[in-house]
Amino acid sequence: MKEDLVLSIGGSILLPEDENVSDIEAIAEVILDASEDKKLYLVVGGGRTARKYINWGRKLGANEATLDDLGIETSRLNARLLIIALGKTAYSVPAKNFDEAVSAGNHYPIVTMGGTHPGHTTDAVAAMLAERLHVKRLINVTSVDGVYTADPKKDPNAEHIEKMDYDRLIEIVSKGERGAGPNIVFDPLAAKIVKRANITTQIVSGYDLDNLRKAIDDLDFVGTTVSSI
Ligand code: UTP
Repeated sequence: MKEDLVLSIGGSILLPEDENVSDIEAIAEVILDASEDKKLYLVVGGGRTARKYINWGRKLGANEATLDDLGIETSRLNARLLIIALGKTAYSVPAKNFDEAVSAGNHYPIVTMGGTHPGHTTDAVAAMLAERLHVKRLINVTSVDGVYTADPKKDPNAEHIEKMDYDRLIEIVSKGERGAGPNIVFDPLAAKIVKRANITTQIVSGYDLDNLRKAIDDLDFVGTTVSSI
């Protein structure tokens, strides 16, 4: 039987900066190739589009829950774009909830989802789906090459951590910002869910596709692995 694998794909690494769609095509190619021996559940984030809409909505006076809804809609929009790139191998719409994702997974090699409810990010959706499916491994495909002791963009002394336990991850990500549209390496709620369900979580950059493929295949890769150790 094929291994079930959940990927949380950050919107930022998926979306092209301009009219060039080669990045999304290249990621789709890696995913399609991996789907030959794995059943893949892809939870897609809102990325730059979410941030833009959330900023505009905030300036217009919307509350956080309303802004979260903008984020959810943009994540589903991004999932639809990825579905186009994946073609017929993928379930044709982003699943709106876990029941739909599970039943679509019985018929399709690849299923996508975006956000579900206000109050968390698509990382948390990925963790909940992974728990629901009893998967052993979740991969967070993001814009950084793993978890650091501090934000490497702000702190030059930040150190990359190759392996850690769930409590260390929870401690690091809980220092992040709150409110709609946060941009931390992994959602704190997601970190708590992977701990309670003991789901090994691998954090990997989506910009190096050879390395991403290694992570998907559970080979040595550059990134961070979070487990019970
Ligand atoms: P993302 O999952 O895209 O957050 O959701 P992110 O951390 O900015 O991720 P990247 O950059 O794509 O990796 C964007 C926003 O959408 C709302 C939240 O406001 C979140 O910050 N959202 C998303 C929800 O409220 N619920 C969801 O289930 C998903």
